[in-house]
Amino acid sequence: MARRPVTVFSCSACGAQAPRWIGRCTECGGWNTLVEEAAAPPSRARGAATPGAKPVPLSGVDAADAPRVSTGHPEVDRVLGGGLVAGSVVLLGGEPGIGKSTLLLQVAARMSATADPVLYVSAEESARQIRMRADRLGVASSRVFLLPETSLEKILEAASGARFSAVVIDSIQTISSAEGLSGAGTVSQVRECAARLAVFAKGGDVPVILVGHVTKDGSLAGPKTLEHLVDAVLSFEGERFHAHRVIRALKNRFGPVHELGVFEMTGSGLVEVKNPSSLYLGSRTAGRPGSAVLAAVEGTRPLLVEVQALTVESKYGTPRRTAIGFDSTRLALLLAVLERHGKLALSGHDVFLNLAGGAESEEPAADLAVVAAVAGSYRGRALPPESALFGEVGLLGEVRAVTDGPLRLREAVSLGFRRVILPAGNAAEASAFPDLEAIPVRSVEELLARTGG
Ligand code: TYD
Ligand code: MG
Repeated sequence: MARRPVTVFSCSACGAQAPRWIGRCTECGGWNTLVEEAAAPPSRARGAATPGAKPVPLSGVDAADAPRVSTGHPEVDRVLGGGLVAGSVVLLGGEPGIGKSTLLLQVAARMSATADPVLYVSAEESARQIRMRADRLGVASSRVFLLPETSLEKILEAASGARFSAVVIDSIQTISSAEGLSGAGTVSQVRECAARLAVFAKGGDVPVILVGHVTKDGSLAGPKTLEHLVDAVLSFEGERFHAHRVIRALKNRFGPVHELGVFEMTGSGLVEVKNPSSLYLGSRTAGRPGSAVLAAVEGTRPLLVEVQALTVESKYGTPRRTAIGFDSTRLALLLAVLERHGKLALSGHDVFLNLAGGAESEEPAADLAVVAAVAGSYRGRALPPESALFGEVGLLGEVRAVTDGPLRLREAVSLGFRRVILPAGNAAEASAFPDLEAIPVRSVEELLARTGG
């Protein structure tokens, strides 16, 4: 009989396993992501089943909404769909230093003020370090219990020892189980620990929040395996261009996805931003001729980007065209369209285009914002206030529909924008957003007519 292999190779990005080392993961295509781990013994109990659960008839299941506890932060509650569900497991992912520990310490303090105490397990920082942060945040509460510990077994023991309204694990990658066969942070340990914490959460009806670090390409270590285990995946992201942070649900079994919570990192922690569009529109450039806010989508992630254009009369025979963050060939093409179909005499002007804050866009949906910014600068006219744009522009001056319309619209609404200028072909998608005034355009001529004659 063939002996079971003693080690397997697991992809540190997606958790896929291979019997021998290969340079590229066959599942996710990641290069050099496979690491050797001890093979798990067969048929180990896994998953989030409640011990000793009995089948119940579907009709006998209580359909009332799962009880929720407020995190004390309305923005976080909204992203979760109305608070933390008892017995649920939430994964909070984000780059190191983005503010995950800060946010959760603030959540722990506010939550415990009106409910049972919160257990904050810190496997990365000492109790003293956390106390110093809490002092800075002004949340040194006696109802937040700290446990600087990396052993899963000890954590579970402490968590079962008293009634807590939530348990925070900071972070899942730094704890390990004595039963695990490999070191902390490996895919199998992360999965094992998360699975056992999920069992604990379900069994005790206590919500568990796991912090997960993301790798530099933006994925959680062992993400695919963890995403299936947890009830909600929240992503904590920094807007590269502003001091604010955005928290969004990527998966949520108990609520909507794509809800946004917006925070600003200040000297005394994260502060909720009630009217986030002010972060864009409050800047001195927004609302001035030559500025247009693009509702972009980067991969699956919506993103608002300010496009700035400047046109000045050329001093030399050949006008200069400079684009930063945007393809210069595409800019030349759009300028030709504006010259021909928009009747703007741009051939005598230098044109400079910049996506503010070092953003880049390669998607055709950026065309309309670029055209609007250039035309705005040339004509000295600002776009309607609080408006965002997206749409592709064709060589005949037509404005073409683009993909991910609802994603772009939802982002604009969430960030407080009131108007959106979009292709007529996407206009139907805007009817789902009654708070948003949709300005559909079919052509560049129509765009120019509707944005100031
Ligand atoms: P932290 O919560 O430690 O990030 P993470 O847990 O995601 O790694 O946040 C660290 C950053 O936040 C650090 O650069 C300092 C900054 N910060 C503030 O600006 N104000 C504050 O009140 C706190 C506590 C941190
Ligand atoms: Mg931290």
